[in-house]
Amino acid sequence: MARSVSTAAPQPDGKLHHGASSTDVTIIHNQEGVMLQRLSSHGLTAEYPVAYAVGAGKVGFSYLISIAPYLFQSPVSYYSQAGVWDVTPGYEHEGVLDFTHPIAEGCVFCHSNKVNLVPGKENQFREPALAPISCERCHGDTTAHLANPVPGSIVNPAKLQQKARDSVCEQCHLEGEARILNPGKHWQDFHAGAELESVFSTYLQRVSPSEGTKAVSHAEQLSLSRCARESQGKLWCGTCHNPHAASDNRPQQVRDICLTCHSSLFSANKHAPAEECVSCHMPHIRPSNVAHAAITNHLISIPGNQPASNAKAVGSRLTAWRTPAPEFADRNLGLALFATGSLKDYGGIYQAYQILSHLPHRDPEVLATLGSILLEQRHADFAINLYRQALAAEPANARYSFVLGSALYAQGNQEAAIAELRHSIQLDRSLPAPYVKLMEIYRKLNQPELSRQVRDEYLKFMPQNIGFRETPN
Ligand code: HEC
Ligand code: HEC
Ligand code: HEC
Ligand code: HEC
Ligand code: HEC
Ligand code: HEC
Repeated sequence: MARSVSTAAPQPDGKLHHGASSTDVTIIHNQEGVMLQRLSSHGLTAEYPVAYAVGAGKVGFSYLISIAPYLFQSPVSYYSQAGVWDVTPGYEHEGVLDFTHPIAEGCVFCHSNKVNLVPGKENQFREPALAPISCERCHGDTTAHLANPVPGSIVNPAKLQQKARDSVCEQCHLEGEARILNPGKHWQDFHAGAELESVFSTYLQRVSPSEGTKAVSHAEQLSLSRCARESQGKLWCGTCHNPHAASDNRPQQVRDICLTCHSSLFSANKHAPAEECVSCHMPHIRPSNVAHAAITNHLISIPGNQPASNAKAVGSRLTAWRTPAPEFADRNLGLALFATGSLKDYGGIYQAYQILSHLPHRDPEVLATLGSILLEQRHADFAINLYRQALAAEPANARYSFVLGSALYAQGNQEAAIAELRHSIQLDRSLPAPYVKLMEIYRKLNQPELSRQVRDEYLKFMPQNIGFRETPN
């Protein structure tokens, strides 16, 4: 994990064609060895130097480019197991392939040691923005240990009580369906030694076999195994993985671990002798949400006999991995239902509304979420009121300002909408949506000159953007 992110990107040059956006992508290295990614679509081209390669390459690498102080995700990734270039997960159906997805704190929390954010911002970084994962992420603050490097002067994950111990690895290895921050918290507020729920709650969805197995869910898989459920919390990631010791005979090492609990396995002739255990009980599987990759199934089971669903998920569509503090239980569930809901499945959104609108206290995120639901239901007046309150509590939040602007427009208040959308651009120049909305408003007002000015303003920020350059005058 010491290579979880790097400024060097030595992966091979390559090419790919993306049909949905008719874009050709070429990956080359310049004389200084810097990777350049070139997009070419409808006669326009754009070329960016890669600032960071994310990943250690077991599955593959994703790339970030920098337009200081912002970072953007590359639409293409390198898949090392198959040795191919392809679009990054999530970009498969994009009509315009470009570097417009901003990187926020949550993304790099799992891949970088410390996230060097501009204070008060979600997606603006100071240099160096990212650094590989290091000791503190598993051991907490290391100052005391460095001053006096003796055992006991540092958090030892293996010696923590169960929830705090599991939290050390789960902070990155348990993505779940949604992770919801407690009010006012940031991802970086989590430190090894604490329980995840002191900072955020993780929600899982009922798993059905047809949905396959998603990547980044080793923790979920393991928890469904009888080995984990019936061994009183003895089994955790650290039982089989020691981040400090690479083994030269891994199959033998794992076999020894299995036999610490299954010591009588071979004695009663119940099981044929075996030199290793993983090929049958933890086979490779192909995750449903990442192309070109196989992972090790951590649901230890009898071959061909996987449990059909995670029985913990009853009642709601979502279930908390561990119960949050009572004062956040409803709030966090409501926000998770909203985050995972969609218009196709309105039940989740409706349930979110029911829960959130009955909360005794509404923090900005709750206000904004209620506002979004009401805006979707064409209650612009109520939405405006809620977004105004959210923005009053967090005046620098560009996202809130953008939605408020859109709600004002939906209400028919063009002048206020334009002012608010401009305000949102002032707060964050990197988000394309407010520019697009403003251009739409000016075109409808028959003011193409103003619409062009907005487009040029965005192009000042990101001169190579193909979608904006293509917009007709
Ligand atoms: C700060 C986030 C973070 C924490 C904390 C973390 N991991 Fe990881 N881990 C990652 C990332 C990201 C990768 C994949 C990229 C890489 O290998 O750097 C990874 C990869 C791994 C791998 C595969 C590496 C390989 O070479 O096969 C194992 C095994 C692993 N982690 C186990 C653990 C265990 C056990 C813990 C807890 C003691 C833990 N991790 C804590 C982020 C984290
Ligand atoms: C909840 C934590 C989490 C978040 C958020 C997250 N990742 Fe990961 N990612 C991981 C872990 C853990 C792995 C190791 C995969 C595994 O489980 O084997 C990984 C694997 C990867 C890999 C393959 C790495 C390798 O060594 O093969 C890439 C590339 C990657 N992530 C990119 C990203 C990018 C880009 C983002 C943000 C847009 C992101 N991830 C967000 C935890 C996370
Ligand atoms: C991915 C998580 C992870 C990272 C990163 C990590 N460690 Fe550890 N470390 C562990 C775990 C888990 C143990 C406990 C191993 C055991 O006892 O089974 C441990 C044990 C230790 C111990 C023994 C502690 C004691 O009380 O006996 C020391 C010292 C240590 N690590 C130092 C470091 C240093 C220094 C770094 C950074 C270079 C580092 N670790 C990075 C997970 C990690
Ligand atoms: C911390 C103790 C522990 C470890 C380590 C452990 N198991 Fe288990 N395992 C259990 C317990 C407890 C059960 C429940 C049944 C029983 O008591 O035998 C179980 C059940 C099983 C089952 C039956 C699963 C089912 O669905 O009926 C298999 C297969 C199995 N283990 C294989 C393994 C393999 C392979 C390993 C090593 C990769 C392993 N176990 C490591 C404790 C453990
Ligand atoms: C019973 C043993 C066992 C336990 C417990 C265990 N793992 Fe693994 N894990 C393995 C084996 C075996 C592999 C295959 C590669 C190897 O041998 O390291 C593996 C591989 C991985 C990989 C590399 C990617 C892949 O899927 O091949 C990651 C990441 C990982 N484990 C994370 C975790 C995390 C996180 C936990 C705790 C939730 C955990 N593991 C608990 C045995 C275990
Ligand atoms: C060639 C495939 C294969 C290998 C290798 C293998 N197993 Fe199994 N194992 C099975 C099958 C199949 C069953 C179900 C057998 C049955 O029910 O009669 C099983 C059953 C089990 C059970 C449940 C036994 C019970 O009756 O509760 C455990 C525990 C187990 N294996 C552990 C291990 C361990 C530990 C290793 C490594 C030393 C291992 N297995 C290697 C195929 C394998």
